[in-house]
Amino acid sequence: MKNISKAFNGITVLDKVDFSLRKGEVHALMGGNGAGKSTLMKILTGVYSADQGEIIIEGKPVSINSFDDAKVNNISMIFQEFSLIPTLTVAQNIFLAREQKNSLGLLNDKESEKRTEELLNELGVNIKPTDIVQNLGVGYWQMTEIAKALSQDAKILIMDEPTSSLTKNETEVLFTIINELKAKDYSIIYISHRMDEIFQICDRITILRDGKYITTEKCSETDLDSVIKHIVGKEFDQAFEWQERPYSADGPPVFEVKNLSAGEKVQNVNLKIQPGEIVGIAGLMGSGRTELMRCLFGIDRIDSGEVFVEGKKHTIKNAGDAIAAGITLIPEDRRMQGLVLQHSVKDNMILPILSKLKKGLFVDNRRANDISKRFVEKLNIKTDDIFKQSNLLSGGNQQKIVLAKWLAHDPTVLLLDEPTIGVDIGAKTEIIDIIREMADSGKAILVVSSELPELLALSDRVLVMHEGQIKKEMKRTEINSEEELEYAIQGF
Ligand SMILES: Nc1ncnc2c1ncn2[C@@H]1O[C@H](COP(=O)(O)OP(=O)(O)OP(=O)(O)O)[C@@H](O)[C@H]1O
Ligand SMILES: [Mg+2]
Repeated sequence: MKNISKAFNGITVLDKVDFSLRKGEVHALMGGNGAGKSTLMKILTGVYSADQGEIIIEGKPVSINSFDDAKVNNISMIFQEFSLIPTLTVAQNIFLAREQKNSLGLLNDKESEKRTEELLNELGVNIKPTDIVQNLGVGYWQMTEIAKALSQDAKILIMDEPTSSLTKNETEVLFTIINELKAKDYSIIYISHRMDEIFQICDRITILRDGKYITTEKCSETDLDSVIKHIVGKEFDQAFEWQERPYSADGPPVFEVKNLSAGEKVQNVNLKIQPGEIVGIAGLMGSGRTELMRCLFGIDRIDSGEVFVEGKKHTIKNAGDAIAAGITLIPEDRRMQGLVLQHSVKDNMILPILSKLKKGLFVDNRRANDISKRFVEKLNIKTDDIFKQSNLLSGGNQQKIVLAKWLAHDPTVLLLDEPTIGVDIGAKTEIIDIIREMADSGKAILVVSSELPELLALSDRVLVMHEGQIKKEMKRTEINSEEELEYAIQGF
């Protein structure tokens, strides 16, 4: 891609960007939230057209103005929000919309299953073509997406933050597959905010900042500090350190859960959080972490058990009950659950505090604007102004709006599920600081994170979940290293 420029409503988001991909290469595309990565890839897959610039494939200029054009040029994008239909089989999903038909025009399941079997074997993935997608783990959804792309003869695969919903093991499987594809001369564009992955799997890195091309480097010839410096634009220390914060360990807890059970995934959970305390929940995918958060916020039904906020017992049957009790959840899947995409940045942010902003019959607009502006600044949300429609913001910036929205609400108990997923390196430390600040004001914080450095930076105490139960409890001061925590998580 040469000299690619793109503006939306007169605002330049890509400014003469160059990007080149070699055969058999894994090329990382990096940059902060809103740098222009997804937009550049949407130009390559025909979702948007560039205002200026050229796309050249194997020496020939091509024009890509639709998804079909991209397909013709053997380019395929694996979306982060999966495009699979959960109730269909793996084979049906792969051949969706172009199912193998027999002479009577009926769908030929046998044929698609045979082709799927071949693809899965080629990928070395241990699932059956007849498996129903929703019964498989998220990692396998990813594999199905990859098989689907390969079935369409893709030679260039774009992966936009593929590991954000994968466990460590699933990530390793994905990396093995990426290496195999590489050996077969496929070319892969890999977008991720996780630095360790980039150095593990990529050959070269291209960095964008504020829509501008900064540099392309070989991974073997650069290092973490230099990459971070290019992304952020200045020297930056990304080490997360745990800070011992004072909290009242003896008095009554702010939040208490007794013998809580909900479905199969939450079984007899007991926990207490003191004012100002941050409690982390560790565990493998499927261990029940997200389900625990969901039932505490009234999304999933609680079968039995008791929930107390500031000593008062609350019955939680829906999110309204939870909010009334002072409990707030920042969900893992924020684009789906946390945002009204058609609404502006501001309207999303003030939604939970509308009643507090009422002055007589009307909303105090000045205060609403002030609050929104403050959070846009605080979280470094990249937007033209607070009135921009949320779905026009980059993925990571949408995540930040949801965070801001619930932080502005100022709950007594804050439940956070993967608070920095999809957020860039610069904003991660800011978010960690904000969570600490909230705790310091006497709140109870319960946080789930698969990123262990982040969990260790935040938590005063860590609970390890396995098969719906809390199996282990560790004071932060008892955990000496990331490896120790990893060991505790894997140890069941
Ligand atoms: N359709 C659109 N209309 C207006 N602005 C847009 C549109 N699409 C993207 N933008 C803007 O372009 C900029 C780049 O967004 P893009 O999604 O490419 O960022 P990104 O690098 O993928 O970030 P992230 O890491 O957060 O996913 C952002 O400021 C975004 O608000
Ligand atoms: Mg993006």
